[in-house]
Amino acid sequence: MKKIITLLLALLMVVSLTACSSNEKTMASLKKKGSITIATSPNFPPFETLNGTNVIGIDIDIWNIISEKLGVELVIEQMSFDSILPGVQSGKIDVGVSGITASEERKKNVLFTTPYCMAAQAIVVKADSGITCKADLGDKAISVQTGTTSETFCLANGYNVGSYGSNTDAEMALTTGKTEAWVIDDLSAAEMVANWNAENPDAPLVILDEPMTSEPYAYAFAFGSEEIVNEVSKIIEEMITDGTIEGIFASYGVPYFAPEF
Ligand code: ARG
Repeated sequence: MKKIITLLLALLMVVSLTACSSNEKTMASLKKKGSITIATSPNFPPFETLNGTNVIGIDIDIWNIISEKLGVELVIEQMSFDSILPGVQSGKIDVGVSGITASEERKKNVLFTTPYCMAAQAIVVKADSGITCKADLGDKAISVQTGTTSETFCLANGYNVGSYGSNTDAEMALTTGKTEAWVIDDLSAAEMVANWNAENPDAPLVILDEPMTSEPYAYAFAFGSEEIVNEVSKIIEEMITDGTIEGIFASYGVPYFAPEF
C-alpha cells in the first residue's frame, strides 16, 4: 500500500512538473518555435487600429523591430482588451501588446518588460457640457473600456462608471448622452476626438486639460518568460536610447514621453 502511495505521489509530481514547465518560455524554446504571438485589441489608435484586416500602429511598428531582433516571425492575434492578460497568463499567447499600463496590480499576475513610453488618462466631454475639470465630474456617469486602468481608477475613486467592451462603444455612450464623460488614454483620446470632430462639427468633443492619471506602458509576458523579457527589455532600452521609438511616434505625428529607467 505504502509503495502504491509513493508511486502515485511520484507520478503526481511528474505531472505537475510538466504542467509548470509547459508555461516556461526561454529564448531557446522561442527560437525553436520560430515565431512570437502577440495579442492586441486594435481599437486604440495610434497604438493599434485596423486598416482593412491588417493591424497597424505604434505597437506593431515597435514589435516588427523587436521580433526581427529576436530572429523570429511576428504573429498577431486580435482579441478584446480584457482577454489579453488572461491569455498571457494561461500561456495561450506569448505577449500582450496593446498600450498596456504596467500597473502594480497587474504585476501580481504578469511579467512586464521595461516601459516604452509614458501616457496619461484623458477626460473627454461634450464641448458644451460645462465640465472643465475633474472636480466637475461629481457623480456624473463616465464611460470607460472594460478591463482598462481607466475603469480600475474610476471605480477605485468612487466615480459613477459605465464599462463598454471597446473604446468605440465608450465614445458612443458619451456622444449619445448615456454618459457625460469618457476616460481614455491621452493619445487615443486625441485621435478619436479629432476624427469625431471632423465628422461631427456641430457636436464637438473636448479633452480637458487636467488628466486623470499618468502611467507607463509596457509589454506583458507570463511568469516563466524571464529570459525573453530581459532580452526584449534590452532591445526596448536600445530603441529608446537611439531614438527609434521617438521616431516611430513622430511618424504618427504624436509627441513622445520617454519613461525613466
Ligand atoms: N492603458 C490602458 C490599460 O492598460 C488602456 C489600454 C487599452 N488598449 C487597447 N488596445 N484597447 O488599461
